[in-house]
Amino acid sequence: MSTHRPVRKRSMVGWYDPRVLMHSAYQIAIANIFGRHSDTRLIEALASQPQAEFKYSAQEGDFWFDYVSDVGDGWNSTYAIADAIAQPELKVLHQGASESTRAGRVLVFGGDEVYPYPSRSEYEVRTETPYARAFAGRAHPDVYAIPGNHDWYDSLVAFSRTFCRPERGFAGCATRQTRSYFALELPQNWWLLAIDLQLGADLDEPQVQYFQKVAARMDADAQLIFCVPEPRWILEEAYPRHENYEEESSTRFLEEQVFKRKARVFLTGDLHFYKRHEDAAGNQKITSGGGGAFLHPTHAPASRELRNGFQQRAAYPDEKTSARLAWRNFLFPLLNPKAGWLYAFLYAMSAWLASASLEAADVITLPTALSAAINAAVRDPLNGMWLITIFAGFIFFTDTHVRWWRILGGAFHALLHMAAAFLVGWVALLLTVQVFDLYYGGVVQLLASGLITVLLGAVAGSFILGVYLFVSIRIFGRHSNEAFSSLRIQDFKQWLRLRIDAVGTLTIYAIGIDRVPRRWRESQRNGEPTVAAHDARATAPRLIDRVQVKK
Ligand SMILES: [Fe+2]
Repeated sequence: MSTHRPVRKRSMVGWYDPRVLMHSAYQIAIANIFGRHSDTRLIEALASQPQAEFKYSAQEGDFWFDYVSDVGDGWNSTYAIADAIAQPELKVLHQGASESTRAGRVLVFGGDEVYPYPSRSEYEVRTETPYARAFAGRAHPDVYAIPGNHDWYDSLVAFSRTFCRPERGFAGCATRQTRSYFALELPQNWWLLAIDLQLGADLDEPQVQYFQKVAARMDADAQLIFCVPEPRWILEEAYPRHENYEEESSTRFLEEQVFKRKARVFLTGDLHFYKRHEDAAGNQKITSGGGGAFLHPTHAPASRELRNGFQQRAAYPDEKTSARLAWRNFLFPLLNPKAGWLYAFLYAMSAWLASASLEAADVITLPTALSAAINAAVRDPLNGMWLITIFAGFIFFTDTHVRWWRILGGAFHALLHMAAAFLVGWVALLLTVQVFDLYYGGVVQLLASGLITVLLGAVAGSFILGVYLFVSIRIFGRHSNEAFSSLRIQDFKQWLRLRIDAVGTLTIYAIGIDRVPRRWRESQRNGEPTVAAHDARATAPRLIDRVQVKK
């Protein structure tokens, strides 16, 4: 029996909430230190489970399947896409004519199945429940998934529990995989090979052996679709000095050494937008990360021309819309109210340390206060250490792989905050001593000026960060992640619907929702509890791109 309680509808993750920031930093650090090296036990345990390729090749007529990635953030976006995927038939407009698409026999999750970090309950609330409600009273596809970096942060414990236990299933759907990678044999000799690259590490040996066995069962005519966790083809363009392209080399290794042919289509998520790159032979590299997570910008970093002759053919949302959305960073304090705590602390500590040795007379003019603050920074070791830590922190945060840019950008950013902290502290002193006429250095004056510094610091610090992010993305094309995770945009969501027809042509439909519903109503479908949109401003799913790959 399913419960009839209203479902918990999570809002979009607040990435600048200090709690989320600290927990993410901790998990990423742990995953990077241990995840890459010490997860062999789990890999071996998973690899000890027998797993062959999964056959769908006997299917008669058109074969439909869906690919969605980066799901499990806020309810509105995740459920809007899940509900569109689950509709038995969805009509889209292509070149003026209505085309009918059908819900997939198979649903592939392409990575990052939950945000901000994986746990049993987060998978359940943010991912499984929306999909269970969407499929309620409708046909259920078979579900497969590969992990993205967010699934790896707990070394895959919650992911394997959710997707690699066939006896359990997912959202009422059958699951069949027992490992974090898999191969599907599709009709007309198409093969879908979903690869797990563990936080960008190299392929593990059991996985190579698995794909070798699969490759041995292919004939010369087999056509390959690769599902990978990251669009390395975009990242290596964005950071050309960055040289560690394990994933490219891992997929190249699979193409050259294992399957002995090129993949016709690459599917990935990780960047939360839709972009399609195509080469002269009609091979496709598709980034489709619009399953629910906050929107990433399509205008920066630029990715119109890639290596190996791949050119950008489609982007959603379009680059103009994306560039326009970046302006919202001026509303940073309103969009990320909890980030204020971070700056309140930063500014209050800085002002406190700078004013520790301040004499009452110094307060009167700006120059005397400034020279006293600089004096304190040089003379007081604790103050000096504090400032060095802050500058180092901002330099570390700066998004570039060119060292001098990083130092320059980070130092300038830190300097802006320290100047603002000084001004805020000075205003607090003036207000308490000259306007409220409190005794300088007394407990009441110190507490009052501390409170003013905290309040002004929270707003000023958040606003400066917003301006910094706006300038970074608009002028330098950097901080594409930070400058858009700050906006928490739940709209412009999309997924891929794929069809293999009777002659073996693969048609890929990218379907998007410009504005997802904000309001919902609990309801019933065929006696099962579901949730229906109840928002006149929401827009219907529409075709954003369509491409055919012939055998
Ligand atoms: Fe993601």
